[in-house]
Amino acid sequence: MSRPIPTWEPLSPEVLADQLGAYDRMRATCPLAESPRGVTLFRHADVVAAATDPARFSSAATARRAVPNAIDPPEHAAWRTLTDPFFAPARIAALEPRVRAIAEAIVSALPRGVDLDAVAVIGAPLAVRAQTEWLGWHGIEDSLLAWMADNHDATRSGDRARTAEVAAAFDEIVRVQLRRRRGMGAAAPEDPTTELMRATMDGRPLDEADIVSVLRNWTAGDLASMAAALGVVVRFLATHPEVQQDLRARPAGLAAAIDEMLRIDDPFLVNRRLTTTALRIGEHELEAGTRVYLNWTSANRDESVFGDPDAYRPERNAAHNLVYGIGIHACPGRPLATMELVVATQVLLQATSCLEPAADAAPVRETYPLGGWRSVPVRLR
Ligand code: HEM
Repeated sequence: MSRPIPTWEPLSPEVLADQLGAYDRMRATCPLAESPRGVTLFRHADVVAAATDPARFSSAATARRAVPNAIDPPEHAAWRTLTDPFFAPARIAALEPRVRAIAEAIVSALPRGVDLDAVAVIGAPLAVRAQTEWLGWHGIEDSLLAWMADNHDATRSGDRARTAEVAAAFDEIVRVQLRRRRGMGAAAPEDPTTELMRATMDGRPLDEADIVSVLRNWTAGDLASMAAALGVVVRFLATHPEVQQDLRARPAGLAAAIDEMLRIDDPFLVNRRLTTTALRIGEHELEAGTRVYLNWTSANRDESVFGDPDAYRPERNAAHNLVYGIGIHACPGRPLATMELVVATQVLLQATSCLEPAADAAPVRETYPLGGWRSVPVRLR
């Protein structure tokens, strides 16, 4: 027998006012819940099961082709084979000093002893400048920052026409980069953008639409996740002075520490799937063609796996951490994201003796499609 799926409204003012609390409450009462947008999975075990079962949970859940995010097996593997080497350890290591120089320039320009919004003055500029440095897109930092804000508003509005318009605006940002390189011919800069344009699959050059899509997925969603992730890290450090002092003295622990801070307050909320067949989750039946949301933020706080979700335990929790996903679509950009977050945090800790919450300004939570913090007022000392 199938029990009806409880309903909820993930974009209601109550949920948006406290996403973490709302997800915690939903998870405690039901494994899944339905809204007109689709069915959300809240529990760790269900999210892992869906993410590791691409045959029954297809990623082709978006209106248009997104490479590799919305590609299913067997084509998906060929795209990962082609794109994963861009994030190989040697490449990330080679980029590290350039990201460090950017982080040092951003942090050294910040005034001391006054209230600053860490997301606006550290997170967003670092994400954009590191990305343009990596891809060779220098000079367009301001248009990327403006685009990030537009994209966020459009996604939240749920207005398909507006989302499509903003997506088209991003494609144009990418196409300008491609045209510039084509115009330069053999003199085009040796960077990942040029390399992708020269790549082949089965001996054939890639379609321009696919190149644009890969670059969009390397940039569009992840600039905002990177900025939000830095906000989460800075807020955690400012409110946990003992962890802050420990990491100042022991920077080798930063990668694991940051993963755990992001587990507690995962800014990358959900990804979509489409069921390819009728299936059961617990006592509930889902029809074929149901749109399903994997709620990473909720799964990362599941008490049955992590105990107290707010307890900071990097070593204990690492094996079950879902911040970068799991299964064939697990984040290929993780080495790049981790390097940028570690470098930025290390630079910030080394340049200060103390990072504390601002005295006169309260932090503001971010809302769907992102989690974490929209603004994190802090003082550097
Ligand atoms: C803190 C930062 C980041 C977080 C939390 C994050 C998280 C995730 C998660 C949870 C997924 C799984 C999606 C799914 O299963 O449907 C994913 C996929 C992906 N991420 Fe990230 N990501 C981050 C940064 C990056 C960066 C910097 C890049 C590239 C430059 C990147 C590129 C991608 C791509 C291309 C996919 C799709 C992979 C596939 O479908 O095979 N991400 N990411």
